[in-house]
Amino acid sequence: MTKAVRVHKIGGPEALIYEDTDLPAPGPGEVRIRQHAVGLNFIDTYYRTGLYKAPGLPFIVGNEAAGEVMAVGPGGTHFHPGDRVAYYVNLGAYAGERNIPWERLVKLPDHITYEQGAVLMLKGLTVWYLLHRTFKVEPHHRVLIHAAAGGIGLLACQWARALGAHVIGTVGSRAKADLALANGCDHVILYNEEDFVARVKQISRNELCDVVYDGVGKSTFPGSLSCLKPRGLFVSFGNASGPVPPFAIAELNNHGSLFATRPKLNDYIGKRSELLEGADTLFAAVINGKLHVPINHAYALKDAAKAHADLESRSTTGASILKP
Ligand SMILES: NC(=O)c1ccc[n+]([C@@H]2O[C@H](COP(=O)([O-])OP(=O)(O)OC[C@H]3O[C@@H](n4cnc5c(N)ncnc54)[C@H](OP(=O)(O)O)[C@@H]3O)[C@@H](O)[C@H]2O)c1
Repeated sequence: MTKAVRVHKIGGPEALIYEDTDLPAPGPGEVRIRQHAVGLNFIDTYYRTGLYKAPGLPFIVGNEAAGEVMAVGPGGTHFHPGDRVAYYVNLGAYAGERNIPWERLVKLPDHITYEQGAVLMLKGLTVWYLLHRTFKVEPHHRVLIHAAAGGIGLLACQWARALGAHVIGTVGSRAKADLALANGCDHVILYNEEDFVARVKQISRNELCDVVYDGVGKSTFPGSLSCLKPRGLFVSFGNASGPVPPFAIAELNNHGSLFATRPKLNDYIGKRSELLEGADTLFAAVINGKLHVPINHAYALKDAAKAHADLESRSTTGASILKP
């Protein structure tokens, strides 16, 4: 038995129920973890509302966490009781303890805390693949990052700056603008008050951007396409304001022979070698000071509903954790 946050019926934050949940012994190839910190992600809200489909009801919310190995299943695994580990996996993370296939775990280096590990496995690995694989950011690039003060946003702005790029961020408030500027943005646009396309044109002297990273979705489309130079890349990686509506592929031609992609983390770390490569690069960036992990909010796991309400009402910045 463990405590977990489950959804029995799709809905608002009140659908998150903190309750006792059965936990069987770990099966072959599985590891039992006692979780010390769980990452809060906008994706968790998509599962709760039904925008992303869980395999069935009830389900335990959550996609990333860090903790300590308590036991291993029959046959043994690469991990041992006492190992400090973290993971990204679809669902099941909002829990005190859980079982998980060992292939999805990475060992936490000594200098990475459980709290950092818990927010790096989904947010950090996403920023790693977006900036190094989906598009390889280099010093001559100008990049636009929407929701620059968010969990993904602050990490992405810091890393893009560290790679030498010129970074433009959009944010929803002046306080968030200050934060984004302190975390790698060269310019910040208040996209609720200003026409962000006109401002990108002004800032770039009409040269526009090589790549737009758009996790906001509906409300920044099709403006994001107008921020790209010919042959630029539109990276639509999320739906914080709702999904991007269907659009004609000819729009990419009209905006200058653009490229567009709708990536997801699973497709970049599906092989264990890719997971380990991404995690090694990420942890090294944190340990050598290239990347600061801004954990700006902490909630008890039982208060997950409040955490979701805060995230959806845009009142959080940076990363947030839940403490089992
Ligand atoms: N594809 C992938 O592999 C992948 C992986 C992880 C995350 N994601 C996506 O990355 C995005 C960011 O995730 P996150 O967990 O780091 O969240 P977050 O950025 O911390 O929170 C979302 C932010 O989006 C902005 N926003 C704009 N319109 C909004 C609206 N109508 N309602 C709520 N927020 C709105 C808000 O910032 P402002 O107030 O500054 O506008 C808000 O703080 C999400 O879209 C998520 O789905 C994708």
